[in-house]
Amino acid sequence: VQYGLGPIGLGVARILLGRRHFELIGVVDTAPEKLGRDLGELLEIEPVGISVMPDARIAIEADVVVHTTQSHLSQVEGQLLEIFAAGANVVSTCEELAYPWFHHAEAARRLDAAAREHGVTVSGVGVNPGFVMDMLPVVLTAPCRSVERITVERRVDAGRRRLPLQRKVGLGLTEEDFRDRVASGTMGHVGLPESVAMIAAAMGWALDAITDRVEPVLIAGGSQVAGLHQVASGIDGGTERVRLELTMAVGVDAPVDRVQIDGEPSFVTEIAGGLHGDVATCAIAANAIPVVWAAPPGLRTVIDLPPIRCAVPTGRQLV
Ligand SMILES: NC(=O)c1ccc[n+]([C@@H]2O[C@H](COP(=O)([O-])OP(=O)(O)OC[C@H]3O[C@@H](n4cnc5c(N)ncnc54)[C@H](OP(=O)(O)O)[C@@H]3O)[C@@H](O)[C@H]2O)c1
Repeated sequence: VQYGLGPIGLGVARILLGRRHFELIGVVDTAPEKLGRDLGELLEIEPVGISVMPDARIAIEADVVVHTTQSHLSQVEGQLLEIFAAGANVVSTCEELAYPWFHHAEAARRLDAAAREHGVTVSGVGVNPGFVMDMLPVVLTAPCRSVERITVERRVDAGRRRLPLQRKVGLGLTEEDFRDRVASGTMGHVGLPESVAMIAAAMGWALDAITDRVEPVLIAGGSQVAGLHQVASGIDGGTERVRLELTMAVGVDAPVDRVQIDGEPSFVTEIAGGLHGDVATCAIAANAIPVVWAAPPGLRTVIDLPPIRCAVPTGRQLV
């Protein structure tokens, strides 16, 4: 079942329809303009015979629900509990679910206990958080004898991203509005501090503090906002052990994903041009399905799971 039909949910549904080893049995969304419509219509393809339902009752017939609605645990906890009660495993793109054990430990404990009680697994996945600024650097430390510090820089041209993301990075706001929203906690990429916490947990580093600073990127020569620059750090004994620098703004030059490992050995790895976040998130969510389905019950973060990979049985992929 695909639950949530914004750009990400529709992108996942498109992948699922194209892979014969998955059977998509239902789609769920509460938006009135989508209810009852055929999924094919929303994807701008031929009708597929699956109509949008307003609630998750269909989850009772599913092995896995891919959940792509909102970013905060306080928003999605009830949705997740309903899916667990229906007996389905959950792959979710909720950012705070990627590694909730540090910032939202109470909610993490509740979700873990409820998932175990119903014998299902729930995982938060995605490109960021979930891969490029946490899982990828963790995996890159495998050949190291020691690691002192992990630094990741991600530079994204928000002009190439979906509308909800452009809104989230503050495009078009005045600088004053942007700063007001930062102060009220409603502006900033959700999930960056979670990525720091995930890295620290994976590396066995007990951090004293995780900091998170959000600044506007302004359109050249003006006071309109083009996007954001955010830095999250993990501090251990006064030393910065993890530094994650994210720039998401329209017109960013030289987009890149760059991981620097300082240790023995020290090295830099780059994904030139950077991963396209929406494309990558949809693929990761679809690719996570068999991994999450096979994992033991409970809340499992990507550092607890076997590697998510693009494993499609040969000869059976349609697209
Ligand atoms: N971890 C990552 O790397 C990553 C990457 C990309 C996206 N994300 C996250 O994934 C989520 C989906 O992204 P998106 O761009 O597709 O978001 P979106 O455009 O906001 O779409 C979400 C859809 O879910 C619907 N919805 C909201 N609450 C619902 C509920 N209780 N039951 C059923 N449907 C509900 C929304 O309907 P309404 O429009 O009526 O609210 C909307 O159609 C967002 O939270 C986004 O931040 C994470």
